[in-house]
Amino acid sequence: MNIGSRSQVKELVKKGLVLADGELVRRPETQVDEMNVRITCKGQEYCYRPYVYYMMNKPPGVVTATVDGRERTVLDLLKEQLQKEREDLTGVPIKDIFPAGRLDKDTVGLLLLTNDGNLAHRLLSPKKHVPKKYFVRTDSPITRETADLLEKGVDMGEGEISRPALCEITDSRACFLTITEGKYHQVKRMFQAAGLTVIFLKRLSMGPLMLDEGLKEGQVRELTKKEVADLCSIT
Ligand code: URA
Repeated sequence: MNIGSRSQVKELVKKGLVLADGELVRRPETQVDEMNVRITCKGQEYCYRPYVYYMMNKPPGVVTATVDGRERTVLDLLKEQLQKEREDLTGVPIKDIFPAGRLDKDTVGLLLLTNDGNLAHRLLSPKKHVPKKYFVRTDSPITRETADLLEKGVDMGEGEISRPALCEITDSRACFLTITEGKYHQVKRMFQAAGLTVIFLKRLSMGPLMLDEGLKEGQVRELTKKEVADLCSIT
């Protein structure tokens, strides 16, 4: 749980600095139920969790990757936030956390970061058709005909036809687009195929998970128990 090595932790126990459920732990070999025990070390409480789930409101200019030699990544941003908020006490090494899905460097909005590979697989599997809702601004007006085209499916190039989508026009150059697949540059390519260029793109939801509009761009928060449960109900 990032407290120390085995031998360092043994020393802490021997020095009487570790409590389990409020009781002093006297022997390093003491057994505990790691899923339910409340550990306190030097006055700091620790809560072991095998999985962590963070929602980020991704800002522009950051790449969706764990490491990148040149560019700032969403994992760099997560690390900075967790250190700032001292939320690095979950026992999950940051190197195990990855973004579940991709947003382009200039795309903003909802990004899920987790170490739960199984959930990520279910969310992203092309077979599951999990809906993703985007707010889109375009360079020129979106007509009802364009929206109909996007809803029916367009040829995104090389014969790749988009699945049926939902396009709700909000004003002449903006709409909400809900798609159930996640191909490379999908939204931009769909609009390109319909003769429009996307000038702003923001993801608002992924399945049952909705972007918390209280999160400023670049901010991160842990998912609530309900949000995790709703996501995990995707079978
Ligand atoms: N579609 C795109 O074109 N870009 C994104 O970042 C997400 C969906």
